[in-house]
Amino acid sequence: MNGFGIHIEGLRKRYGEGDAAVDALKDINMTVAPGEVVGLIGPSGSGKSTLLKCLGAVIEPSGGRMTLGNEIIYNDGWKIPDLGALRRDRIGFVFQAPYLIPFLDVTDNVALLPMLAGISNGQSRKRALELLDALDVGHRAKAQPSQLSGGEQQRVAIARALANQPPVILADEPTAPLDSERALSVIRILNQMAQQYNTAIIVVTHDEKIIPTFKRIYHIRDGRTFAEGGEGKIL
Ligand SMILES: Nc1ncnc2c1ncn2[C@@H]1O[C@H](COP(=O)(O)OP(=O)(O)OP(=O)(O)O)[C@@H](O)[C@H]1O
Ligand SMILES: [Mg+2]
Repeated sequence: MNGFGIHIEGLRKRYGEGDAAVDALKDINMTVAPGEVVGLIGPSGSGKSTLLKCLGAVIEPSGGRMTLGNEIIYNDGWKIPDLGALRRDRIGFVFQAPYLIPFLDVTDNVALLPMLAGISNGQSRKRALELLDALDVGHRAKAQPSQLSGGEQQRVAIARALANQPPVILADEPTAPLDSERALSVIRILNQMAQQYNTAIIVVTHDEKIIPTFKRIYHIRDGRTFAEGGEGKIL
């Protein structure tokens, strides 16, 4: 299933024009294999969120190339026609806050995206329950989000990101609000999920607790990436 790595070459993003132009991304080069979890680290304003938005097809880059598996997504101004479908069907997002829908129970929070993608309600809920079990929150399937702890809510958010079995997951500071133990457990789960579903995962983080867990890290400074081997201490 899935198994599409990401490959980016010379990606650029300019906001605005003329005197007001900001070159947020100048030269981004990155490869993430299926089943791999990489860290993305950089100071404030270095371009991390801009890069995740380009990767997730929320905004379009100004130039450079990105492929997903063998498929070209962006190529120097050219882009695939349906970026919305790419974002919906092939990218999972995990944010710092879980952003669960307060009036849906835990199962339906996870089942919603597959339902919207046209999968039957029964199948969608079955898939949601499997993921919740895999993430060790199956016992809270019928609870409302507000009844869950912060760590449990974040695991539900990860289940939701995985629900359409996307080949790519983009996580922006997913462990920021969590204590050490829960932060490491989120990373452990992301690694497990990457392997189980062959997902390519990029984790933006400042979190000193989890940085030693990455086997590979991309540093971003002033819109440019630098690759580095990490400690890869899996926990
Ligand atoms: N919509 C926008 N219009 C103009 N400039 C922008 C826009 N969004 C971001 N920028 C600029 O692009 C640069 C990169 O911003 P970005 O948000 O990607 O940084 P970041 O690494 O995510 O920072 P932080 O760690 O503070 O979240 C910054 O100089 C920022 O001011
Ligand atoms: Mg940011």
